[in-house]
Amino acid sequence: MADANDGGLRSARWWAPDDLRSFGHRSRLRQLGYTPADFMGKPVIGILDTGADVNPCHQHFRQRVEDVKRGVWQAGGFPLQIPAMSLGEPIQKPTSMLYRNLLAMEVEELLRSYPIDGAVLMGGCDKTTPGLVMGATSAGYPAIFMPAGPMLRGNAQGKVLASGTSAWRMWADRRAGVIGRDEVDQIEQGIARSAGHCMTMGTASTMTAATEALGLSLPGASSIPAADSRHAQMASLTGRRAVEMVNERLTLAKILTPAAFDNAVTTVAALGGSTNAVIHLIAMARRAGVALTLDRFDEISRRVPVLANIEPSGSYLMEDFFYAGGLRGLLARLGDLVAPEPITVTGRTLRDELHGAQVFDDDVIRTLDNPLWPEGGIAVLRGTLAPDGAVIKQTAASPELLVHTGPAVVFEDYDDMARRIDDDDLAVDANSVLVLRNAGPIGGPGMPEWGQLPLPAKLLRAGVRDLVRISDARMSGTSYGACVLHVAPESAAGGPLALVADGDLVTLDVPSRRLDLEVPPEEIARRRAAWRPPAPHYQRGWGKLYATSIRQANEGCDLDFLEAGEPTDEPAIH
Ligand code: FES
Repeated sequence: MADANDGGLRSARWWAPDDLRSFGHRSRLRQLGYTPADFMGKPVIGILDTGADVNPCHQHFRQRVEDVKRGVWQAGGFPLQIPAMSLGEPIQKPTSMLYRNLLAMEVEELLRSYPIDGAVLMGGCDKTTPGLVMGATSAGYPAIFMPAGPMLRGNAQGKVLASGTSAWRMWADRRAGVIGRDEVDQIEQGIARSAGHCMTMGTASTMTAATEALGLSLPGASSIPAADSRHAQMASLTGRRAVEMVNERLTLAKILTPAAFDNAVTTVAALGGSTNAVIHLIAMARRAGVALTLDRFDEISRRVPVLANIEPSGSYLMEDFFYAGGLRGLLARLGDLVAPEPITVTGRTLRDELHGAQVFDDDVIRTLDNPLWPEGGIAVLRGTLAPDGAVIKQTAASPELLVHTGPAVVFEDYDDMARRIDDDDLAVDANSVLVLRNAGPIGGPGMPEWGQLPLPAKLLRAGVRDLVRISDARMSGTSYGACVLHVAPESAAGGPLALVADGDLVTLDVPSRRLDLEVPPEEIARRRAAWRPPAPHYQRGWGKLYATSIRQANEGCDLDFLEAGEPTDEPAIH
């Protein structure tokens, strides 16, 4: 039996035998217009395409698939486009995070069940990147990631607009009565004006950069704007490289080492990247059998400064970052902070690939002695309110709130919060700590991006623009504020967040990495005895399977049976 490990092509099992089954496979390729010379003996490259009308970030994938195919043909391969579940972040409900693992399962099974020798993974919009990589890692064949690229800077009324970040600021101004409907309409027209993913350092920019640093994209790929002709060129080069990876038997297992994940975490820190990267990288690592922990994020974050001056932590956008030298420029600036040994999809080390990288604007990509922030953006907290951990993006929070004690204002769930947050009778002031529960992996469900709780309208009118906010939710990477996220265990699983009452004092101390509920243990025990879990959201279908197997945030929110384990057999062909 031919496979990628014994010198033959895996796809030859489908095409080569002189039997009825292979006759059927070959005849169906001829139905597509191909002759045996097109596919026999050639590496079959599956192009996993997450483009769809429901995903505006990937609208250019129709053309990019053709660009990838061109590269595959040129390198002597045989390309097959395979549509995969498109997770359209801004539109999908209740949250695309509910479906990241479903995409990963789909990718793994598509790759295994079809005659694929290697894969090009086309994604970028938030959960598509980790979903594709997780599935391909579990499948185990050679694979390369082709990032969607960021969209161009937003623009309206003479102002530059940032995905998400400008929207949150605009809406706070609208609720405070500072701007009206006409200005909102102008911003609506111009904030997303080209193909590509969000152009702030949100989850998409963070994860595509982290995936490149992990070694899974060609050098420099993640920084190229989607609308730039160099993006099409990169797609073609990626297709070529996929064929070569099959010929070289370069599987993901050779790339996804503990040191490679350290490089990804280092990159997230230096970018001031999204907190969502913590969950996704832990999940990706566990697929590869690498024990990446929350504590490793904190260790690396403490020694890596933020060099990327990009919104929401900084001032610029991804287009500026690309012109300033992009990820290669930033990684070159990090020098010895980048681990030397991990190899990339090129077969060379990441450090080797940085030779010749330049920075063209020291304000966009800072130097080590003039960083935007002296340590990484993400801090990991623990304490009586988060025994298994929580995170905060300290670079996007008001500095005066990084050490703060205040009375809790508790919301039972999102609907409760939406109902009461703007009530002028709500007992809240600038010293309060807003607490939202039932927003975690089980409780949300799917851990929605509700962690940047809106500020009460009466405080907005009084000029308040930040409060300490605590939840078991996630937060968009484009968001900002003193928001403590990913509290674990979540409230729906009986974590201490479920036991907080209005008026309880809560202490946040980021320098000490603490998050504590200042309530005596005997009172906590009394409340715990009275606590009952919320009713499940789903009685059937994917939601039920998800809820029965989902891991907590500190473990990456994968399904427990999808993590690395015994290899799955190749499918029988008969
Ligand atoms: Fe697609 Fe932000 S909505 S990346």
